[in-house]
Amino acid sequence: GVIKNEEAKREGAARLAAELQDGQTVGIGSGSTSFLTLQALASRAEREGLSFTAIPTSIEVANACAALGLRTATLNEVRPDWCFDGADEVDAKKRLIKGRGGALYQEKLMMAAAPKAFIVVDRSKIVDRLGQNFAAPVEIDPAALSLIFEKLEGFPGLEDVVLRPAGGKDGPVITERGNLTLDLTFSEITDDAHTRLKQMSGVVETGLFFGYDFELILAG
Ligand code: A5P
Repeated sequence: GVIKNEEAKREGAARLAAELQDGQTVGIGSGSTSFLTLQALASRAEREGLSFTAIPTSIEVANACAALGLRTATLNEVRPDWCFDGADEVDAKKRLIKGRGGALYQEKLMMAAAPKAFIVVDRSKIVDRLGQNFAAPVEIDPAALSLIFEKLEGFPGLEDVVLRPAGGKDGPVITERGNLTLDLTFSEITDDAHTRLKQMSGVVETGLFFGYDFELILAG
């Protein structure tokens, strides 16, 4: 199909599906790798008569859960036993860029809530320099757009800032929380980049996932 490196992703998905135990609650990340992993989980559950509750991180995943007939819940109702997600980039220090798909805020909430996390990536996601292939997305409150553009001037290593445009409509992308997304291109991403960004008023969350303890599943 149109999924990039589908074979590798399916292999990783199958490996992760083996983690499921009966009665667990699992946080479901967004993106094509997570979608394949969700499918693998659902088919294993069906085959072996296991039941589980899914906590989706986006409308897209919630729809996929509904189509698969899965029971879902929110982070306000339950806590996950574990979660999984994809990533746009991973570096040697296990720093991640996430948020190409625009679900970074809920994905980060999930990583913060889960006692155990798996990040499933194919080889194309492993990078020498974080930010080499993807911009780092930052979700911001629309009221702070102009202010944040101003505050970003002179930010260490920052080369370019773009307000993410929508695909199917005019104007910018509006996130599921009603916010905007800035895509930040860096020549170098320092370890304090997330914290510096997060300290700016109006920044909701960043797609820089630093300092998370997760198991990396290298697919394929
Ligand atoms: C979604 O917001 C992202 O963080 C995804 O986790 C990331 O883009 C990975 O997607 P793919 O598995 O489709 O590459």
